[in-house]
Amino acid sequence: MKNIEILAQEIRDAINAADSIQALDTIRVFAFGKKGIISEQLKSLSSMSSDMRKIAGPVLNSLKKQINGLLTERRKQLRKEIFSAEIAHAKIDVTLPVRQTPAERGRIHPISQVIDEIIAIFSDMRFTIAMGPDIETDYYNFTALNFPQRHPAREMHDTFFFNPDEKGACKLLRTHTSAAQIRTMRKQKPPIRIVIPGKTYRIDSDTTHSPMFHQVEGLVIDKTVTIANMMWVLEHFCKTFFEVPSVKMRFRPSFFPFTEPSMEVDIQCDRSKADIKFGKGKDWLEILGCGMVHPKVLRNCNLDSEEYQGFAWGMGIDRIAMLKYGMPDLRAFFDADIRWLEHYGFRPLDIPTLFDGLTS
Ligand code: DAH
Repeated sequence: MKNIEILAQEIRDAINAADSIQALDTIRVFAFGKKGIISEQLKSLSSMSSDMRKIAGPVLNSLKKQINGLLTERRKQLRKEIFSAEIAHAKIDVTLPVRQTPAERGRIHPISQVIDEIIAIFSDMRFTIAMGPDIETDYYNFTALNFPQRHPAREMHDTFFFNPDEKGACKLLRTHTSAAQIRTMRKQKPPIRIVIPGKTYRIDSDTTHSPMFHQVEGLVIDKTVTIANMMWVLEHFCKTFFEVPSVKMRFRPSFFPFTEPSMEVDIQCDRSKADIKFGKGKDWLEILGCGMVHPKVLRNCNLDSEEYQGFAWGMGIDRIAMLKYGMPDLRAFFDADIRWLEHYGFRPLDIPTLFDGLTS
């Protein structure tokens, strides 16, 4: 056992002298590695006579415990020394900017921002928000909205259909947010004053069309709602959204199965310079479809068309976002390119409100 004592002393000295974590690791392997000196001694216990083992066993085990303790202590001490040395040399540049938090670094997608702007404007006019599902039935997307079966207006929508179910009915991806009008009228009693922002889908793709796009639907139902109310609401929205004091609007007769009369709306703009400007100029740009809700649609929602009337409109969100913020290619909206988002995105805390200026 004598040489073990000498060996133990050598190991203790080496631990005290170790001046780095690596040096300490080398000692640990030397003592306790697979072929380590103490490991070997422990292994040899099994070949000893039981008398010898009774003496050597406790000695070796307490040595193992002691050396392990010393290694741990020395490691702690070395770490402290290394840290103090680093601190002593470190220089802190207090002029460096503070690292940005996620709330500062993150960016809100322009579509989300524009939806928030739209909601801010309509909530100020006491509208509430409604939603509907993206996967719709033919009934809500077409039939209840007075699209007759096999009517060409259905084909105009280039619909994505799902495979038929066991009854042969095909679900579809809603082609317009108008489907959610029906769902709202069926569960909410008038007066109704809602906007429905959401995703819509059509088989279409180029620089200004994407198979998935966004619309906002508006619906007002009450006993004395008129076209004049609709024109005022839409004009007020356009002025506020494009942040101009006045804007001329052109209401052109059109056709939608769910409104009568139906109109398409152009707003006045100036396209003579590179940037499009609203509220002045001699050009016109189509931005939405609208009309007075068709009596048949009211009846499909169990509303008495002699008692109630109302107006509705549908507008492409992506398009007005592109126009307002000068973003030329719609497809880039959905490419999930972080560089695009860093350029066109909005700061998370720039929440649009009317009292603070929509885009201040
Ligand atoms: N749903 C129509 C479309 O996607 C837009 C629209 C037009 C909605 C007139 C309406 C409306 O609510 O009254 O083209």
